[in-house]
Amino acid sequence: MAEIKTIGILTSGGDAPGMNAAIRSVVRTGIYYGLKVMGIRKGYNGLINGDIFEMNLRTVSDILHRGGTILHTARSKEFATEAGVKKAVTISKMFGIDGIVVIGGDGSFRGARDLSNSGVPTIGIPGTIDNDIACTDYTIGFDTALNTVKDAIDKIRDTATSHERCSVIEVMGAQAGYIALYVGIANGAEAIIIPEKEFDFHRDIVKPIIEGKHRGKKHDIVIVAEGVGGAVEMAQKIQEETGIESRATVLGHIQRGGSPTVMDRVIASQMGAKAVELLKDGIGNRVIAMKNNKIVDFDIIEALDMTKTINEDMLELAKILSM
Ligand code: F6P
Repeated sequence: MAEIKTIGILTSGGDAPGMNAAIRSVVRTGIYYGLKVMGIRKGYNGLINGDIFEMNLRTVSDILHRGGTILHTARSKEFATEAGVKKAVTISKMFGIDGIVVIGGDGSFRGARDLSNSGVPTIGIPGTIDNDIACTDYTIGFDTALNTVKDAIDKIRDTATSHERCSVIEVMGAQAGYIALYVGIANGAEAIIIPEKEFDFHRDIVKPIIEGKHRGKKHDIVIVAEGVGGAVEMAQKIQEETGIESRATVLGHIQRGGSPTVMDRVIASQMGAKAVELLKDGIGNRVIAMKNNKIVDFDIIEALDMTKTINEDMLELAKILSM
């Protein structure tokens, strides 16, 4: 591989808190190693359109604590085509970019793989609130989203308790139930409904609610992952079947924003530095991951082939603790 002197950085897919911390880390580590760092705006769209500028130490001042991404983000349809990838390679050459760091989710990694295969060494950093990337135990933004959802559910619980109601809360996560599972435990939910696990309305929702009422419970929290959906209908059905007044809340995009937690800032900083170290050593086509609390890296193609399974013990624990 040719020597890497200039690297590009972009964020792609849904924004996640901590992306800015990762950008800052890539820029400052890159400059520390004597590399030139180019910011690419609006994800792969910016790469195709040449929306690119040189970053310096001060471009990333004052962003560590900010949610979202200063580089903006997009889900690029054009980049999903062969012509789009070709254009991106031409633009990279035009700007003298020898390697690229992509911060995003699975879809963004497929783009990173295509760029690498077309001769632009690329490194993926997992950034999504969903924590649904198979090769890594952790994705940047997950902890902040969990804390945001936890705070929101604590507030909803006050109302549910005061009115002796059941609250059905729909949380994000695309086709994965990690956010639902973690806040289900953290917020003491009576039921957690996720796409990875088949559920039976009576066995998994109505029964625990009725049994809880007999044990003296004053309210119920039911967490439904977005991948299952239907929180409003579910609340209506619960009210009909149990006689308990029920309400639905769909938390929506409040879960994506906000100042990143310490965990997200630190992991993003570590992952950003690791991505630069690989490129500086002439290594591309990798994905950064966290495995057993260590920052590691995998081949992009191998990483995309991996599958992630939900922790059944956590689901079981949630059931036991909600008695
Ligand atoms: O991947 C992050 C995420 O927030 C998912 O949880 C959700 O399914 C999706 O993005 C929503 O995307 P958009 O903001 O484009 O509606």
